[in-house]
Amino acid sequence: MSFFSRLGDRVVGGPSILAANFACLAEEVRKAREGGASFVHFDAMDNHFVPNLTIGPLVAASLVPETDLPVDAHLMVQNPDSLIPAFLEAGVASISIHPEAVTHLHRTLSMIREGGAEAGVALNPTTPPESIEWALPYLDFVLVMSVNPGFGGQSFIPEMLDKIRRLKEMTDVPIQVDGGINVETAPAVVEAGARVLVAGSAVYKGDPATEMRRIIDSGRSAVAEGR
Ligand code: DX5
Ligand code: ZN
Repeated sequence: MSFFSRLGDRVVGGPSILAANFACLAEEVRKAREGGASFVHFDAMDNHFVPNLTIGPLVAASLVPETDLPVDAHLMVQNPDSLIPAFLEAGVASISIHPEAVTHLHRTLSMIREGGAEAGVALNPTTPPESIEWALPYLDFVLVMSVNPGFGGQSFIPEMLDKIRRLKEMTDVPIQVDGGINVETAPAVVEAGARVLVAGSAVYKGDPATEMRRIIDSGRSAVAEGR
């Protein structure tokens, strides 16, 4: 699978289903797809790495056959190595992990790629971009967390714009941004160099198709205006 490697310079968006109604997940994804979503962001939390508990590989395995969008698993869990095989088996297209949660980053990223998925590293707000310099050859994307991982509905941390700019100088792999993304912040992160927008509460606060479309369009406007 090759969602991130085929992205080029396009600006794309997808819903974080953390903010969706879990009782009708497939329908919630379908609504965001109507609004132009090109992937689904799937937040797994374990109540250890982050103080919240969500969904895991069993739910991913149920969702994957219900959508033609690539499912992008964001693992906010301690020791993701033990869960990665089950997520791969579930058919997710990409997996991001947090470097603080693994002991041997190269081994973990290789496991994801060898399993046929694209590999990403998620950087907490105070984790420096330089910490992944030697991991870059093994990455298909970098996820900049623009809030502390664990909960939806938090405010965007503006200093993350500088982090995106720094990453952009370091690598050509697509930069995904997650946390506090809405019609106001999307243009700013795209202008800084991000191309993959994840939005949870801003999508599901209203009609998901309408809100998803507005967020993607607002991000694309930053490129169109050459800002
Ligand atoms: C936070 C998650 C996000 C979250 C974003 O830990 O990784 O994906 O759903 O939610 P919003 O868009 O509401 O900030
Ligand atoms: Zn996420």
